[in-house]
Amino acid sequence: MELTGGGVDTFEKISAGHIANLRAHLGLEGDMSVGEIGRGIGRNAIPLADILTPPNGRYLGIDIVRPSIDWCSQHISKRYPHVMFAWFDAQNTIFNPTEHCPPRISAFLSMTLRSIA
Ligand SMILES: C[S@@+](CC[C@H](N)C(=O)[O-])C[C@H]1O[C@@H](n2cnc3c(N)ncnc32)[C@H](O)[C@@H]1O
Repeated sequence: MELTGGGVDTFEKISAGHIANLRAHLGLEGDMSVGEIGRGIGRNAIPLADILTPPNGRYLGIDIVRPSIDWCSQHISKRYPHVMFAWFDAQNTIFNPTEHCPPRISAFLSMTLRSIA
């Protein structure tokens, strides 16, 4: 619970905790491709933008909340083209209650792989 949720006051502390976990458990390196499903408002994407080094180091963050995907694309990808975001239109009663496109796993996977490749 200490590493999810939170507000402005805990944004950086939680972000640092996530990066420390990625280093400790996955051996995070600058030339890795990182995918995050449920990327929220970019708490992990922002530090990863500096850690990951293109062309091999890159990030794809997927979420069902379109406005935050649009914001991150505009503000983060513009400056860091190796950091990409994609909207996945899955319905969720809390985060995406009004969208109704049923998730199609094959379409989702091909979109993800196209973006990472
Ligand atoms: C608790 S937030 C965590 C955000 C981010 N990982 C972080 O650490 O700051 C969970 C996120 O998952 C997203 N989410 C929920 N269901 C999802 C789904 N089926 N596919 C993709 N993202 C989803 C939500 O929109 C929300 O942004």
